[in-house]
Amino acid sequence: MWGIIATWRMAYEGIEKASEMLKAGGDAGDAIETAVREVEDFPYYKSVGYGGLPNEEMEVELDAAYMDGDTLDIGAVAAIKDFANPVSIARRLSKEPVNNLLVGEGAEKFAHKEGFERKNMLTDRAKIHYRNRKKEIAQTEIKPYAGHDTVGMVCLDTRGKMTSATSTSGLFMKKKGRVGDSPISGSGFYVDSKVGGASATGLGEDVMKGCVSYEIVRLMKEGMHPQEACEKAVAMFDRELKERRGKAGDMSLIAMNNKGEWGVATNIEGFSFAVATENEAPVVYLTKNVDGKCIHEMASREWLDDYMRTRTAPLKEL
Ligand code: GLY
Repeated sequence: MWGIIATWRMAYEGIEKASEMLKAGGDAGDAIETAVREVEDFPYYKSVGYGGLPNEEMEVELDAAYMDGDTLDIGAVAAIKDFANPVSIARRLSKEPVNNLLVGEGAEKFAHKEGFERKNMLTDRAKIHYRNRKKEIAQTEIKPYAGHDTVGMVCLDTRGKMTSATSTSGLFMKKKGRVGDSPISGSGFYVDSKVGGASATGLGEDVMKGCVSYEIVRLMKEGMHPQEACEKAVAMFDRELKERRGKAGDMSLIAMNNKGEWGVATNIEGFSFAVATENEAPVVYLTKNVDGKCIHEMASREWLDDYMRTRTAPLKEL
């Protein structure tokens, strides 16, 4: 059995590529890296890689992680600037005996020494978003926008190896140096080939309070199906946050076990995800949360067309 699952519609093209590799007996590390890079390279996605929205100083600072579920090796970068594919740097770091999570300048030095591609990740389109947002904030005095559509994936290959990876530009207008859940093991991602893996998208500050990815893997280890584990972990932690703090940030989790069974849960409206397994061609689903039960519906052709049209529509300066 092989399979791969990822947060958001934006992962679809990467999932297609990865599924071809997995079908041909490819490695879960290579497949997941290929899939995440596809998202990082697409300039119209505003929350991952090239074209990601900048921090309040108009710099694109990126977070990414990679985990190998066989060895439990973890590599991650946080607040890294000017490199094309943070997920590949994270994967390379996972092979180091120590220094597995590097931030800012340290991460950039490592990437430079290792010969990773340098790239100014700030696109003209992202600059327009920044300037528009500045104007909106000045006019309405609202808080900086909380856009945080991380790509997070879990992958299983035919040899039973599992991997997980994430990549994000984090919150638009975040403080310089702010790091979310995505490069943090147990919060943004976790995988153990003996059980399965999970990955998160949402408000990092809240996801980190519950180590939700690890919690899902723990529940699967106790014997839960990924769907049940996702629903339980998300519902419980959402309730916990609301009881203690009066509100819970956006939180959507995807998971797959080592049999290729998958699950998804969310506390928001309109969460989409992409999945492919030996038994299921690459597909995009939309998830609705109905009283704690998450119902997945295949995205319609119309929804898919509209998605790409709105992402790539010309952007007007306010
Ligand atoms: N979930 C991504 C972030 O909060 O940065």
